[in-house]
Amino acid sequence: MIDGQKNAERFPRRDFLMGITGAAVAGWVRPQASVASEGRKIRIGVVGGGFGTAFCWHEHPNCEVAAVSDLRADRRDRLVARFKCDTVYESLEKLILDKTLDAVAVFTPAPDHVRHCTAVMNTGKHVISAVPAAMTLEDCQTLIDTVKKTGMTYMMAETSYYRQESITARQWFKEGRFGNLFYTEAEYHHHTEPDNELNWYNGEKTWRYGYPPMLYPTHSLAFHVGVTGERLTEVMCLGQSRMNTGEYRDNVYKNAFCNAMALYKTSGGNAVRQTEFRYVAAEICERAQWYGDEMSFFMPTSTGFPGVVCRRGQKPELFEQPLHWQTDMLPEPLRHDSGHGGSHTFLTHEFISALVENRRPAVDVYEAVAYTAPGIVAHESCLKNGELLQIPDFGRSA
Ligand SMILES: NC(=O)c1ccc[n+]([C@@H]2O[C@H](COP(=O)([O-])OP(=O)(O)OC[C@H]3O[C@@H](n4cnc5c(N)ncnc54)[C@H](O)[C@@H]3O)[C@@H](O)[C@H]2O)c1
Repeated sequence: MIDGQKNAERFPRRDFLMGITGAAVAGWVRPQASVASEGRKIRIGVVGGGFGTAFCWHEHPNCEVAAVSDLRADRRDRLVARFKCDTVYESLEKLILDKTLDAVAVFTPAPDHVRHCTAVMNTGKHVISAVPAAMTLEDCQTLIDTVKKTGMTYMMAETSYYRQESITARQWFKEGRFGNLFYTEAEYHHHTEPDNELNWYNGEKTWRYGYPPMLYPTHSLAFHVGVTGERLTEVMCLGQSRMNTGEYRDNVYKNAFCNAMALYKTSGGNAVRQTEFRYVAAEICERAQWYGDEMSFFMPTSTGFPGVVCRRGQKPELFEQPLHWQTDMLPEPLRHDSGHGGSHTFLTHEFISALVENRRPAVDVYEAVAYTAPGIVAHESCLKNGELLQIPDFGRSA
C-alpha cells in the first residue's frame, strides 16, 4: 500500500493533488462495528495448506481450529504449525466425517470448490470457500440449491470485499457520496508465465496452468457488486491468446485466453469495465476506480499513483486510506494488518460472527454467485468473439 506522504514526494509537480487525510477529504464516518458476542466457540476444520494458512481462525475469540487436512504431508505440517492443531486428516473427505466440527474452511483448488463445499454442507456443516464459487452456471445453481436444502451457511472468502478501500467505498456508496455511481473500472492483473512455480508441482501441471482468466473474476467484480449491491446483467468480452507461441497450449481447460477485457451493463443501468490479465508486463494489481457524478474515488496503483478523490467542481485530492483493521470493527486480537489489503482478518471475523449471531454473512451464496457467474458468461463471450450475452440473475437472500 502506498501512503500519501510518499506519493506527494513521488509526484512533486502534481500541485493539483493536495495531501490531506481521508477523514478530511470525505468526512469519514466509521462503519458500525460488529464484534461477535462472548461465549460460543465455532469448531472449524481447515482444508488446504497453501492459501488456507493465511486466515486467522486461531486468533478469533469465538473460534477454535479443531481439525486440519491436506492431501500433501508437507501442507498438513504447515497447517499444524500455523494453527497449533494436532487433529489431522488425510483428506477433506475424511475430515467432514468428524461430527464435532461446526464448520469447514475449503481452500482447495478452484475446480474442486463446488464438489467440496456441497460435500461439507451435506454433512451438516457450515462452509467458507476460497474464490471462485464455481466454474459453470449449473454449478452456481447447485451451490444455491444445496444451501437451501441443507440450511447451512455458505460464505465466499472474497478478499476484494474487505480491502480497506472497498470498505470505504461501500460506506460512501451507502451515504450517497458518489451521487450516481455510473461506472466502475476494476482490474486483476497477475502475470503468471507458464514456467511460474504456481503452475507446477512435482513435475505435474497444477490447476492453475492455463486457467481461463474470466473464470477467476471475483476479485475484480467484487469491487462493483460488493460496493453497490447491483447485479451485472449483460456482458461483451474480448479475449487475447498467446497460444500461437505454444504457451499454455496443453491445458486441461482447452483454454486459449491469457488476457480478457469485459464491459458489463448493471441492473441499475450503469457500467463496469473489468480487465483480467495473466500475461502482462506490469506489477500485480487488484484495484478499482469508482466514477460518480458527485464524487470519484481512485485506488492507488501498484505502479505508484496515489489514492485520489475527486469531487465535482473541486480540485482532486490525495486520499490517505484509514486503516479499518485498527478499529473496533474487529475483535481486539484481530486488529492487525493481514493479507490482500487487510482483508483476511475481516473475512475470518465475518464468517465466525455470522455463525455465532445466526445471520447471513456479507458474502453469502447469492453474493458469491453474483461475483462469479458474470465472469463465466464473459468467458462465453470471449469464445464468441465479443458477442453481447445476457447474464442470468440468481437472486439474492430474502
Ligand atoms: N486473494 C484470494 O482470495 C486468493 C489468493 C490465493 C488463492 N486463492 C484461492 O485459494 C484456493 C487455494 O489456493 P492455493 O494457492 O493454496 O492452491 P494450491 O493448489 O497450492 O493448494 C490447494 C491445496 O488443497 C489440497 N487439496 C486438494 N484436494 C484436497 C482434498 N480432497 N482434501 C484435502 N486437501 C486437498 C491440495 O493438496 C493443496 O495443497 C484456490 O481456490 C485459489 O483460487 C484465493
